[in-house]
Amino acid sequence: MFVFMNKAHKYQEIYKQVESVIDGESDLIANMANSAALLHEAFGFWWTGFYIVKENELVLGPFQGPVACTRIGFGKGVCGSAWKRRETIVVPNVHEFPGHIACSSLSQSEIVVPIFSNDEVYGVLDIDSKELSTFDEVDKEWLEKIVRLF
Ligand code: SME
Repeated sequence: MFVFMNKAHKYQEIYKQVESVIDGESDLIANMANSAALLHEAFGFWWTGFYIVKENELVLGPFQGPVACTRIGFGKGVCGSAWKRRETIVVPNVHEFPGHIACSSLSQSEIVVPIFSNDEVYGVLDIDSKELSTFDEVDKEWLEKIVRLF
């Protein structure tokens, strides 16, 4: 069903599905796990997952895709930078991002979206693609909307 839709339309559908799978469920891990699965399946990304802030580090949370780095420091890599800057980072070419952490040598582009509660970042959504320049303002807008559902 997703094959013929444009990106914004796909995100609209995924948004509704995330809303429905997390409806009435307060467990963060369960909600992150299902959201990662929905996004990963719909778009065929290379890696889709979450890191959660624990004792001043980002620790790997629910994800879909190959094995990934377990811990990322504040300000380190794209994930730690999005946490520090408190804003979404879109990376068209990971090889040009200083300090990028290569969990997989096949990743070419990436987007990292911080997740807030009471104005504090408590995690990030990280998505990697095997193609260059996969992510743009449409992904940023919708992924920010999706993580606000938690
Ligand atoms: N590339 C990320 C590390 C996490 S993996 O991509 C899953 C970074 O630079 O923070």
